[in-house]
Amino acid sequence: MAIVTKNFGGGWSDDKLNALRSYLTSYANALSRSSFERIYIDAFAGAGIRDVPQETDEQLFDELQSKEDEGYRHGSPLIALGTDPPFHRFIFIERDAASIAKLKEQVTKSFPSKIDDVSFRQGDANGLLQALTQENWKARRAVAFLDPFALHVKWDTIESIAKTQAIDMWLLFPAMAVNRMLPRSGIVPPKWAARLTETFGSSEWSEYFYEKQ
Ligand SMILES: C[S@@+](CC[C@H](N)C(=O)[O-])C[C@H]1O[C@@H](n2cnc3c(N)ncnc32)[C@H](O)[C@@H]1O
Repeated sequence: MAIVTKNFGGGWSDDKLNALRSYLTSYANALSRSSFERIYIDAFAGAGIRDVPQETDEQLFDELQSKEDEGYRHGSPLIALGTDPPFHRFIFIERDAASIAKLKEQVTKSFPSKIDDVSFRQGDANGLLQALTQENWKARRAVAFLDPFALHVKWDTIESIAKTQAIDMWLLFPAMAVNRMLPRSGIVPPKWAARLTETFGSSEWSEYFYEKQ
């Protein structure tokens, strides 16, 4: 399990996608002589190219979101589709309907021969990932790439992925979002506190981050 702390701006997007490309190539190579079906899961897939829209439905966390670099470069789903040796199947999860429609267009245009290997699933990553982890993983292995803008990954989801013992997870952890949700006053608005508890899996974060006087 890899947990990467996210920095903002600059060449971060390039660095993250180069690291992903390199990892997926090594992973697919390592498993290429086994009989496992190789699956790539992108749980926050975006639109496929990097002019992804900013989210609009979570006003509370707007100021916590990163700004993607300008440009039209391939995002993580298309990087995965280009991996050699290839993955057998791809599951792309995205909450935003317009983004997933655009992603489908991009895959059709850039990887027409792979379109039948891709399952596009619109909805919340937590619910969809938790459902996936309940399937039979005996003959399958996967990489799950979790690249949220803000604190959108619940601890329950991480636990259910770990339980499969068949899925390598990458979580790009939005550390700055956590910092911004911990005011110096120690008075954390209840909605933020609930989100922090969902993220860390318990309310102990308040003891950990705030010194008792
Ligand atoms: C940082 S972007 C992903 C960028 C993508 N990895 C790439 O390389 O192009 C995060 C995406 O997650 C989506 N998103 C946010 N919350 C979500 C959720 N709960 N479930 C699924 N997708 C979500 C947003 O709509 C956005 O497209």
